[in-house]
Amino acid sequence: MTTQDTRSAKLTIEDKTYEFPILSGTAGPDVIDIRRLYSDAGVFTFDPGYTSTGSCASSITYIDGDKGELMYRGYPIEQLAEKSHFLEVCYLLLYGELPKAAELEDFEHRVTSHTMLHDQMNWFFRGFRRDAHPMAVVCGLTGAMAAFYHDSTDINDPWQREVATIRLIAKMPTIVAHAYKYSIGQPFIYPRNELDYASNFLSMCFAVPTEDYRVDPILSRAIDRIFTLHADHEQNASTSTVRLASSSGANPFACIGAGVACLWGPAHGGANEACLLMLREIGTKDRIPEFIQRAKDKDDPFRLMGFGHRVYKNFDPRAKVMKQSADEVLGLLGIEDNPTLQVAKELERIALEDEYFIEKKLYPNVDFYSGIILEAIGFPTSMFTPIFALARTVGWISQWKEMLEDPNLRIARPRQLYTGATRRDYVDIENR
Ligand code: SDX
Repeated sequence: MTTQDTRSAKLTIEDKTYEFPILSGTAGPDVIDIRRLYSDAGVFTFDPGYTSTGSCASSITYIDGDKGELMYRGYPIEQLAEKSHFLEVCYLLLYGELPKAAELEDFEHRVTSHTMLHDQMNWFFRGFRRDAHPMAVVCGLTGAMAAFYHDSTDINDPWQREVATIRLIAKMPTIVAHAYKYSIGQPFIYPRNELDYASNFLSMCFAVPTEDYRVDPILSRAIDRIFTLHADHEQNASTSTVRLASSSGANPFACIGAGVACLWGPAHGGANEACLLMLREIGTKDRIPEFIQRAKDKDDPFRLMGFGHRVYKNFDPRAKVMKQSADEVLGLLGIEDNPTLQVAKELERIALEDEYFIEKKLYPNVDFYSGIILEAIGFPTSMFTPIFALARTVGWISQWKEMLEDPNLRIARPRQLYTGATRRDYVDIENR
């Protein structure tokens, strides 16, 4: 819901002044509608990291970076993490409202009854080396879904869009769990329809065919909360990748596969793995100052993984919830003196008192504590980003749906500031 108010922005270039409408949303900064800039003034804007560019209008997720607020369809993340559960959050992100009991039951049934993979896909895993990074496997299998579920790839058919939506939310846990089992040489564990979403994922990851597996409710609640905290986050790099890929009309599985690929980077979803590896490298509290110094050194490419954010210039609200959850889970598991957690807390304390971090407004982000919980649950670091991808799938799909339902949808095609050679004629090799 955008409103064009009477205000406008004026841009003067040499002796000409151009006017552009200002659009307001329901919260957050207004935007200047510059869609006519090039046709009117013959110039482009220049914003390589998109630090001041709005790529779309969206009603799904809102972040206030200064207040440290995150809301899914208007509901604060703290309330959803405490009172809701992941599949209900999925419904909210996808359809815009909290479900009534019957709506939730139907949605959960539709997801639960689509958790199995096409059995031929199970052979697809076997093409990978056992020591392949699980993100490489998840990236490949997600894109490959287009080869197995071709009957839900027509993006112009609302029914096929809905089928693809359910298939992706239902099957990503199975793909991620199978990638883990494959990496440790254990047989795949099939989904169990009597288990809830989070418990089913833990069962597929940690059960073995030789004995019964009982899901620990503490761990199930912890992983469900991690899914909720990672579900969506406005127009971050991977969501923007999904939107860009979708704008060409590519099928949903290819687009979500593109999102998985982008999320893998250590500056984005790969930070949770990088953060835990960093905390392990630090090892003990007495080595923290050395790493803080490196993070501040302009000549050192080292960055404090799990710190900083493009939008949050105050605490990432997810990090706050994650920190509480880490204390709760490790306490209930009787490992509250976990050395990695102690180093993380001391690192956070020191960094937050350091002038450099204060001046640059660097706070812990969602990736700072998540790895500690995932490690306590029993996952290796290589599984952290695949779990992030599993949770973010609903956010990517929600944004994908919203974009495809926009009557003004056009292919995304940014322009550039050209700095290369101007026109010149070919020189034959003997004359070079
Ligand atoms: C996620 O976009 C999202 O919403 C992403 C995400 C989501 O849910 O989708 O929230 C998930 O990706 C969280 C971020 C995870 N990444 C990390 O934890 C990696 C470490 N963080 C940095 O790489 C960095 O903070 C970014 C990538 C997160 C943000 O980069 P920006 O916005 O481009 O900020 P910047 O790199 O321009 O940094 C501003 C300044 C720089 O110093 P100057 O050039 O101004 O002197 O702060 C410094 C940076 O050097 N800085 C850091 C730092 N992060 C920024 N210095 C040390 N350690 C850090 N972690």
